[in-house]
Amino acid sequence: FAWRQAMANEPSELKIPELIDARDHGQSISLKAQPGKTSFYPGRESETLGYNGSYLGPTLRVHRGDDVEVAVSNTLGEDTTVHWHGLLIPGELDGGPHQTIANGATWRPVLPIRQPAATLWYHSHAHGRTAEQVYAGLAGLMIVTDDEEKALGLPSEYGIDDIPLVLQDRQFEEGILAIPQGMMTMMHGRQGDTLVVNGTVNPFARVPRRRVRLRLLNGANARFFNLSFSDGRAFHWVASEGGLLESPVELRSLHLAPGERAEILVDFSDGRPATLETGQNASTAMMRMMSRTAGAEKEAVVRFAPQGAEASPVQIPDQLSSHAHLEASQAIRRRHFEMTMDMRQMMSGRSGSFGINGRSFDRGRIDQRIGLGDVEIWEVSSAMMVHPFHIHGVHFTVLSRNGSLPDVRDRGLRDTIVVQEPVELLVKFTQPAETLPFMYHCHILEHEDNGMMGQFSVS
Ligand code: C2O
Ligand code: CU
Repeated sequence: FAWRQAMANEPSELKIPELIDARDHGQSISLKAQPGKTSFYPGRESETLGYNGSYLGPTLRVHRGDDVEVAVSNTLGEDTTVHWHGLLIPGELDGGPHQTIANGATWRPVLPIRQPAATLWYHSHAHGRTAEQVYAGLAGLMIVTDDEEKALGLPSEYGIDDIPLVLQDRQFEEGILAIPQGMMTMMHGRQGDTLVVNGTVNPFARVPRRRVRLRLLNGANARFFNLSFSDGRAFHWVASEGGLLESPVELRSLHLAPGERAEILVDFSDGRPATLETGQNASTAMMRMMSRTAGAEKEAVVRFAPQGAEASPVQIPDQLSSHAHLEASQAIRRRHFEMTMDMRQMMSGRSGSFGINGRSFDRGRIDQRIGLGDVEIWEVSSAMMVHPFHIHGVHFTVLSRNGSLPDVRDRGLRDTIVVQEPVELLVKFTQPAETLPFMYHCHILEHEDNGMMGQFSVS
């Protein structure tokens, strides 16, 4: 403990993942999934996994209208897959659990980038191994950009005033990454007592004295973040998972569930340092009671130190994007999804204790067949606990939460949404999935690995 406290007080400079812009590489990118060693604490080496490095992967920047080849090679010593979370592409390119890349093999999808600017991510989706592979480091960001976004003049100098933040929690024993196991881990997902941002423990970041864009990803296996600044300053939320909101929303706190992303603009022109913090794990009472972070004070996520001469903050446009609006009346079908847990199964330690509508994932079973171009209402509820629900191959909007109009926090185009009270989602299926299906699942990765997942075809 004394050792940990000594270590924990040493701030380190926030690591920024390398940026690979597909246009600088002739639209061809290589990603190598590999084992490595990472020092989260000085002099303490952990066994980790990464893409082109020892932990996490590079940020891939792709441009709307381009076709980008990504050669993904696997040297992990076990099977993996790479899923492009939030990318709107056909099922056979999606990198779900059926798209196995065997050890020693290379997969070369050509990804058609046809969607508006957004912050997406990629990660392992090897069924039954997703949680452990992501926990060990197999995740990275993907930034989609386009001319409309560039014309807005938002901060976009990567790593300077456009800063990626991959938020995770990890458990360490004597400074070495530990992989918690057991029934509680399965039930609540792997959670750790230490926050790690871009692989950095206790990070600080120098930022220019102007408005800065933060691209936030909740890349934790199971931890929910409730983010705010130590001085209570307001910020502008400008993008959800599917891209830019129609107009900026001023907030003082932001919830981020596993799998969710948000872009925010923060004004540092006053030169005062501020810490991005998170409150206690924002989930159910039962989870709060049992979780390690229960009742905890606010925890520091990143300390920001503004530097240099003051620059007047760029104006934030009133209109950021305009989405073609879908109407609920266009929906031709309504489906119900209840995220369920089988406690007896769980107590006996058998897999398949999580399911959707009482059924655990079966890779040989197509759960829904959907028509290409169809609009549907998906009503999603949870029997117990809070679960982030993610659908592949679509971006949806929230029609209602608990029978009422959704809160401002449910705005925008989404691919992952927190479900505690029932939500109604309006979904249009624009991508085909004939040879390989799309998944929908809980983004608490241990729940997903244990069966809280289904699959659908689109044709
Ligand atoms: Cu982030 Cu099915 O995945
Ligand atoms: Cu879950």
